[in-house]
Amino acid sequence: MLETISQKSIITTAFLSAAPLWLTKRMYSTGAINSRKVFETVAGVIRSEISSHKKSMNPNNKFRDYIDGYLAEMEVRQRKDPNTHFTLQKLSEMVRILFGAGSSAVQESIEFLLLLSVRYSEHQKRIHEEIDSVVGRDRSPCYADRLHMPFTQAFINESFRYKTKLPFNLMRCTTKDTTVLGHFIPKDTRVIVNTYALHSDPKVWVNPKEFIPNRFLSSDGKKVLKYETFIPFLIGKRSCVGETLGRVEVFLYFVSILQRYRVSAKNVDIMSVIAKSLTMNAKPKDDLILEFHKRL
Ligand code: HEM
Repeated sequence: MLETISQKSIITTAFLSAAPLWLTKRMYSTGAINSRKVFETVAGVIRSEISSHKKSMNPNNKFRDYIDGYLAEMEVRQRKDPNTHFTLQKLSEMVRILFGAGSSAVQESIEFLLLLSVRYSEHQKRIHEEIDSVVGRDRSPCYADRLHMPFTQAFINESFRYKTKLPFNLMRCTTKDTTVLGHFIPKDTRVIVNTYALHSDPKVWVNPKEFIPNRFLSSDGKKVLKYETFIPFLIGKRSCVGETLGRVEVFLYFVSILQRYRVSAKNVDIMSVIAKSLTMNAKPKDDLILEFHKRL
């Protein structure tokens, strides 16, 4: 498996998982993991957003967004405890993380869905049919439409399984001694969930290397099936905090695009782009040009 892992993010995750905690922290704090210039520019934008929120926020009104909510909670907590973790510095970090994690994950998921729609044009046709019968062409899709679009949901789910966004979880370590399936794991041990293995376990998934959306459908094609071992957003307290938003965004962007366009590609062996990548971060080669044909 390792030779196919070419994505920088995976290598970084793998490296950081093995590196001592002090080194990991240092790399993040110095910005060595990301480009320092990008890091500082984004931090500047966030600082100015926070300060304009502080000026315009009215605590008696409804919170406009996450920053308003955090600022209000920070005030309450700081009154009770001067050493609280709720600080402007933390708020700034949280906003940066939400933007970083949120934007790229959704963008990559949609790009990948478009590649799969090109590669499997018969599935694209079926999604078009579902969109036409449930949403039509005269209004924008809404998230509730998904309940009547099992194939589209199955297609999206299968894309998350087929090339898992994060084949391993983010870094975690045990907070106390514990035992899992008879194995003793001491406090402060790095633990990794191998989502890749769960999503490609042949005991659960028939032909796991194949892209088969129907595996997520009941035999009559009307219901979307759930699998315990399907965890694209991980599970537990520290699973993806943006799961709900991410699912809504991916569904709405993808359906909105296919509502208007049929997507094809020029001069490219799409399958090689998809097949080479372990995750959905399939970076098309220069000569991959997607074509969007307006649907009549
Ligand atoms: C299709 C979209 C997305 C996918 C597939 C995805 C997947 C994941 C995965 C697998 C993790 C690791 C969880 C773990 O290690 O246990 C994660 C963490 C995270 N995600 Fe997402 N995510 C998506 C969208 C978003 C969005 C829209 C946001 C923000 C609005 C977001 C914010 C985060 C944050 C902040 C974490 C770190 C959570 C923590 O460490 O406690 N994600 N995501």
